[in-house]
Amino acid sequence: MNTTTSAAYNYKVVRQFAIMTVVWGIVGMGLGVFIAAQLVWPELNFGLPWTSFGRLRPLHTNAVIFAFGGCALFATSYYAVQRTSQATLFAPGLAAFTFWGWQLVILLAAISLPLGYTSSKEYAELEWPIDILITIVWVSYAIVFFGTVIKRRVSHVYVGNWFFGAFILTVALLHLVNNLEIPVTLTKSYSVYAGATDAMVQWWYGHNAVGFFLTAGFLGMMYYFVPKQAGRPVYSYRLSIVHFWALIAVYIWAGPHHLHYTALPDWAQSLGMVMSLVLLAPSWGGMINGMMTLSGAWHKLRTDPILRFLVVSLAFYGMSTFEGPMMAIKTVNALSHYTDWTIGHVHAGALGWVAMVSIGSLYHLLPKVYGREQMHSIGLINAHFWLATIGTVLYIASMWVNGIAQGLMWRAVNEDGTLTYSFVEALEASHPGFVVRVIGGAIFFSGMLLMAWNVWQTIRASQPAEAEAAARYSLEGAH
Ligand code: HEM
Ligand code: HEM
Repeated sequence: MNTTTSAAYNYKVVRQFAIMTVVWGIVGMGLGVFIAAQLVWPELNFGLPWTSFGRLRPLHTNAVIFAFGGCALFATSYYAVQRTSQATLFAPGLAAFTFWGWQLVILLAAISLPLGYTSSKEYAELEWPIDILITIVWVSYAIVFFGTVIKRRVSHVYVGNWFFGAFILTVALLHLVNNLEIPVTLTKSYSVYAGATDAMVQWWYGHNAVGFFLTAGFLGMMYYFVPKQAGRPVYSYRLSIVHFWALIAVYIWAGPHHLHYTALPDWAQSLGMVMSLVLLAPSWGGMINGMMTLSGAWHKLRTDPILRFLVVSLAFYGMSTFEGPMMAIKTVNALSHYTDWTIGHVHAGALGWVAMVSIGSLYHLLPKVYGREQMHSIGLINAHFWLATIGTVLYIASMWVNGIAQGLMWRAVNEDGTLTYSFVEALEASHPGFVVRVIGGAIFFSGMLLMAWNVWQTIRASQPAEAEAAARYSLEGAH
């Protein structure tokens, strides 16, 4: 059966991306803890431009979203698309290029952001030469992913791949439109948009970066790994199709909720608000579909910390997608905007949903691509689960308290119309919350260190060749 030798799944690139997910997770979250500490002890800015909060903050967001989250998405989508298509990756050379190209993008970001090179658009800070590299890598990703879907040996396209596919296509569109810019030097460019138009395009991008990078891709992950780990089929295939089309149709309109009470036309703000409220329905449809997949398998939660990671991530997804529509209501946003409430919301999604679903999926995937039965230590996964959950709760609870306190203090007025509190008083009131966030962040971060140790021990005694052999066997079986 030598003919099938070349048909084994391509696990090498999955392994590479999976390892770098852990590495960038540690770097990005370590930076998060550091900038959180800077907000408690400003001396940690060291008086240097390169280490100042203003430069390290975008380094944190880029590292966690695009390096950690991006590598997790590459690893899981390459893994899931091969297995659900019963086909090896299309264009393996190009797949290898996406790995090295993406690491180069991350490296260039790590150099250019602390040096202060930025296009000043949030989550799209990287300057134009890096934007071009991102485009090339992303087009290659699309070719590899859709090429694999096209050469599949089963008739239908699994719903997880629909989500991964929508994420790849939409991110390409968002990146191209928002980064249209006129270069003036190698390191400086200006956006082709100006004023309120620029703001609207930026937040159309920004919100859909949340919707497609931080949500649709991770829903693809959820649709593959939750049923796999639970050992049950997806609760409702029909709901997953409705979920997909509803989410895709609604997300794209919600961006203006980032621009309430600005120069953006009022009707556009109201449209953004209404579409955000509508978004609750598809978001919860997906959450319920994931949760209900556990029907009849709930008892597994008692013994399986990987499944716990996945289920709790869905709970946080449900929570943050309830909170988001509430914050999109203009009168609520009047209180929450500019405050730590937004930061709490962000990390309910980022730590509770994005990071936890990625961590759970990686614990499922890593032994499979390294030819091991399971991870080196299940006890350590369990410890990681508790550290991640407690860390997330401390982070978001402290930011809720801070956010609401800030919002109320800023708006409090005396009878004579003067402000009751100065800005500094509100800042002083926020200090305890900042301290709790550092503690929560450090707890979450320490869980990542446990993960790195566990992964290292798993790999040390691994036989990747056996993983490939098992893949070849399952492919032959599929014939
Ligand atoms: C140990 C974990 C983490 C810690 C301690 C942490 C800490 C922080 C801090 C201190 C800020 C700046 C807040 C401010 O300006 O007031 C921030 C911003 C941000 N972080 Fe994290 N972070 C962590 C993990 C993550 C992860 C895993 C993600 C995404 C997957 C993420 C995404 C973001 C985003 C998007 C922002 C910008 C929020 C905004 O502009 O509204 N963070 N983080
Ligand atoms: C139905 C779903 C959601 C809706 C309607 C929603 C709505 C909102 C609203 C109204 C804001 C505050 C805007 C402002 O005052 O500036 C916000 C901020 C944000 N949300 Fe959500 N959210 C949703 C889900 C999520 C999820 C699941 C994540 C993460 C995985 C997330 C990440 C963020 C980020 C990063 C920001 C901060 C953007 C910035 O100002 O830099 N959101 N969201």
